[in-house]
Amino acid sequence: MKRIHESGFGFAEALQAAQQSLDKNKNVLRDYLESKGPGSEEPILFDSESLAILAYKGAIEAVRERYWTTTFLSSGFWCSLNESVLGANLRLLADRERTGASVRRLFLLPVPPVEELQRLQDERMLLRKQQDVEGLARFDQKFANLAENVHELIRHGCDIRIAHGAEQLHPSLPEELAFEPGDTEIAIYDNWRFDLFQGGRSGTIESVCGYTPATARFEQNRDRVVEYFERLWAKSQPIGEFLERIRKLIEYSSTRIEYDTSWLVRYDHALPREDEALKVAEFSSVQVELTRLVRWGKVRRFLDVGTCTARYPLALREAVRADGDIMAVDNDMDCVRFSQEKVQRESGNDARFKIKCHDFRSTELPSERKFDLITCMMGTLSHFEHAPWEGHRPPEDALQRAIENFARLLDEDGVLFFTVWTEKACQELRLLGIYTDEDRQRLARTSITRQELQRRLEAAGLRVSAPLLLQDRMDLYRCEWPRP
Ligand SMILES: C[S@@+](CC[C@H](N)C(=O)[O-])C[C@H]1O[C@@H](n2cnc3c(N)ncnc32)[C@H](O)[C@@H]1O
Repeated sequence: MKRIHESGFGFAEALQAAQQSLDKNKNVLRDYLESKGPGSEEPILFDSESLAILAYKGAIEAVRERYWTTTFLSSGFWCSLNESVLGANLRLLADRERTGASVRRLFLLPVPPVEELQRLQDERMLLRKQQDVEGLARFDQKFANLAENVHELIRHGCDIRIAHGAEQLHPSLPEELAFEPGDTEIAIYDNWRFDLFQGGRSGTIESVCGYTPATARFEQNRDRVVEYFERLWAKSQPIGEFLERIRKLIEYSSTRIEYDTSWLVRYDHALPREDEALKVAEFSSVQVELTRLVRWGKVRRFLDVGTCTARYPLALREAVRADGDIMAVDNDMDCVRFSQEKVQRESGNDARFKIKCHDFRSTELPSERKFDLITCMMGTLSHFEHAPWEGHRPPEDALQRAIENFARLLDEDGVLFFTVWTEKACQELRLLGIYTDEDRQRLARTSITRQELQRRLEAAGLRVSAPLLLQDRMDLYRCEWPRP
């Protein structure tokens, strides 16, 4: 090997190592050209991002039949606007019209899409609570870029999907590939090369290992990698709906009301007199109804939706049997923590309680089992956005999903109570005094007529009683299943 002269600046070893690695790659490819057989146990390795990208661009320019690749949302590439990578992909897609090549990109999620969306929402909500303006801007920009890149690729004929559960298939990959789940991304080019990129976990490309017929056991390894990709593809879904839901969660978490600890303490102990009286009137009406229905002390399973400070779970615990269950959900982590601590403080080790973070607008249910008492109080329903009702069926919006979730969770002998702000209270902005003006206006915008609410509940199959008007500000509803 030639000596490297580096004039005493300390680069000698680095230059030597780079030269050695370059020579190694060149020798492997030269030997292959001469012998037409695999001369190396090792793949071609480039351990810098810029070289890995060049090696990748070189490969996709030569693709004629197939370019299949996996990637992670965290890999960073598709969440930034990298003209050179996007450009290389678009050139391949332009050629695709001529060659008919199959171009597939698969985003691998670590958990099912619903959980991933919840995680993203929590992450964004936390940034908002921390008033991290720059973090929020970065978050939003990242997903705006992702949507732009994905739509551009789809428009040019790339098939882009999402899948999860890849880790179950990892054992089917050859051990010698040293594939690292959560970090390694795959690219398959026609039949003549596949690459393993490292660095997905940290959001960069740290290196690439390129496998070609110059590498031992190339065909067997390639076939296993192709099979791995095909099995993932078979359980994947198009990315469109996922991106739309990310857009919605950004919109939702930009506008939703934040409940910080001081709000929660004021809600429990320092409401304006008129609001405190409303709280008391609402609770005693539910108590009276439960007693009248001979349910007090007999409830088997109780669910409180939008529990906030666990007011209802605690106040209704006497209504639930000693061997019953009390579940409370809220999608605000501060409310969940506050409620958990309060329940612990006030009920000791009462094993009936379970408080969990759950977004009741999602299609996932917080429990697989049904409940014979469900409450959703103090206008929580106003937090579920709704679209105008136009056709014969109610629109598939957050409010209708929540109503259908009530129906899915309500036992055949169950009873559901909820309150909504009346249209008049919304018009006069007479919602809770401790909300900010902005939040009151936001909630008032979700005002719904009695007729529409009734139609929506009936569309979910529920029987609705005439609402009870509380202080001219709230309607208390009771719903059950129709009697046979
Ligand atoms: C007015 S407070 C409810 C007060 C409580 N139910 C009571 O009567 O004392 C509204 C609560 O609904 C929660 N919430 C809003 N949207 C939600 C959603 N999509 N899923 C679950 N909880 C939600 C809020 O975090 C907040 O704690």
